[in-house]
Amino acid sequence: MIPQRSASAAPTHDKPQLYAHLAARVGELIADQTDFIANISNFAALLFHSLPQLNWAGFYLLHGTDLVLGPFQGKPACSLIASGAGVCGQAALQRAAVLVPDVRAFPGHIMCDEGSRSEMVLPLIKDGRLVGVLDLDSPELARFDATDSEHIQRLLQQLMAGTVVPESRLAPASDPAW
Ligand code: SME
Repeated sequence: MIPQRSASAAPTHDKPQLYAHLAARVGELIADQTDFIANISNFAALLFHSLPQLNWAGFYLLHGTDLVLGPFQGKPACSLIASGAGVCGQAALQRAAVLVPDVRAFPGHIMCDEGSRSEMVLPLIKDGRLVGVLDLDSPELARFDATDSEHIQRLLQQLMAGTVVPESRLAPASDPAW
């Protein structure tokens, strides 16, 4: 539950202030809820409504060697991304952030919303095991930088620390693909 007093608009001009605000909100999200779907749904909604210049924010979750669409905010999107495909598949394979300043210049980019101009995808990891990726899209070129990436990765770590992830959602510890 998010206390009503915290429903204030996020500050948008100062990144340290914005991300401090978001860390506090994530703390509230996980304070009395550990459910996986509930927490990642609220996280996607929190980012979509707090970060400026986004047209899509959501998760793709590991399903075998594919990624399947999870909780998100924005227009309906591709529901299945194969291992290594698109920006999401690359971030999952590399288990690393992929920042795309111009989606039209990224070989293999999968266009789900024609309004997207730049994109950032971050791996979602629980206890060292891949769960999926967080995908953020913007209608602005070069919307995301290393500061955004570092802060949002920290928010994801905070989220996962307070979330119970079912074993079936985690990459098999023995699977060399992940
Ligand atoms: N552009 C992504 C696909 C997902 S949508 O942007 C929501 C990609 O290339 O993996």
